[in-house]
Parts: sequence; C-alpha cells; structure tokens
Amino acid sequence: MDATYPPFEYINETTKEFEGFDVDLMKAIAQKLGLKVEFKNVAWEGIIPGLVTHQYDCICSAMTITEERAKQVDFSDPYFIASQVIVVRADDDRIHDVKDLEGRVVGVQLGTTGDFFAEDLLKQGIHFELKKYKTTPDALLDLKNGNLDAVIIDNGIALWMAKKCPEDYKVITGNKSLTHEEYGIAVAKDNPELLKAINQALKEIKEDGTYQKIYEKWFGSS
Ligand code: ARG
Repeated sequence: MDATYPPFEYINETTKEFEGFDVDLMKAIAQKLGLKVEFKNVAWEGIIPGLVTHQYDCICSAMTITEERAKQVDFSDPYFIASQVIVVRADDDRIHDVKDLEGRVVGVQLGTTGDFFAEDLLKQGIHFELKKYKTTPDALLDLKNGNLDAVIIDNGIALWMAKKCPEDYKVITGNKSLTHEEYGIAVAKDNPELLKAINQALKEIKEDGTYQKIYEKWFGSS
C-alpha cells in the first residue's frame, strides 16, 4: 500500500503502525484465511510493477479497478465504491463545477484516477494547468499554500481531510458524481489461488458483519 492515504492507509505518527480501512480489511481477510499479513509501504508510482515482480503478494491501497490496470494485474471483487471530487480552499467561492476549473491550476496524484479524470477534462477542452504530485497529501498541502486552485481526488480522502481541517479545505459536491469507481484488491496474474481465497474471505466478512464493523469504525454508521 501507498500509506499516505487516510482513512484507507496511513502510518500512525506516534505508534509508526499501519492504520486505516484497508489495513483492517486485510487483517480480517488474513484472519479468515489463517494467514499472517505483513504491510509494506510503497510509492504509488511503482505499486503495480512491484506486484508484477512479486515484491509483495497483493495491493490493497484504495485502488480503483480499471481496464488498463486489469491488463497487468487481477482484481478481487469490488470492496468499496468511490468517486472523484474537487477540493478547494475553505474560503474559495470561485469553483462549483468542473467548468469552473477553466484557467485555474489543478493538482492530482500522479497515476491515479484523479489524474486520468483531469486529463480527460483537458481533452474535452476545459483548459487548466495540471500539476502532478507523488502523493495526495503533497497536492493538498500545495492547495493550502496557495499554489493550486483545486485538487481532484477520491471522495473518501477528500471528505476525511475536510473534516480534519475545515479551516483549510472544502469538498465540492456537485449534484452529480464525477466518476463511478470501485476499489479492488490486486493480485499478480500468476496467482489465481490467492485471488480466489481473497474473494472467498471477502464474501465471508461481508456476510458475518465484519465488513460492516470495519466500515462503521472508519466512516460512521450513516
Ligand atoms: N482510487 C485512486 C486510484 O486508484 C487513488 C488511489 C490512491 N491510493 C493511495 N493509497 N495513494 O487511482
């Protein structure tokens, strides 16, 4: 996992432990399978190559299932629904919609679905300067510092950050989702046994209420 992505995966600054929804999810899956799970923190940029070359057995990192990625890795059944949102500074009233990005400076995390969505907007003829960052927190920091007008990222981390720092950020939720995305756990294509086991465990933790408990721990019960 690229553990720079609360509330899905991040390192607790005090304990130095991995924490988050994905961390709890993988622990629960491992427990069902009678396996011990070990977490590795890797840069998003190299996360798929690292799986393909067997540096680790799977990726659970709020990763959206996409056709392109599915050419390189296999994905588990979807475990989470997400969409892109626009984040702006809390005191900025200029941006309400993707059209308002025209002429602005926009940040994304390199190689994410936010990056792909922003590239699509450019192709559709909405003109803005696009800056790509190695991590999502790097992009959010540059937004806070005034070097960006907006950041395009997944709703989960956006809402988390806006809740944690309401004086810095607000999330633009238009009347229609910008994208429909599903997160999946990625496994190397030559490891169908693990994929099957993960899907089975995922099914079991959904059925026995474990998934719901983890969901409520990180996102509340509403
Ligand atoms: N869902 C987006 C994608 O798949 C962003 C995921 C970024 N995850 C992370 N741990 N940095 O491209």
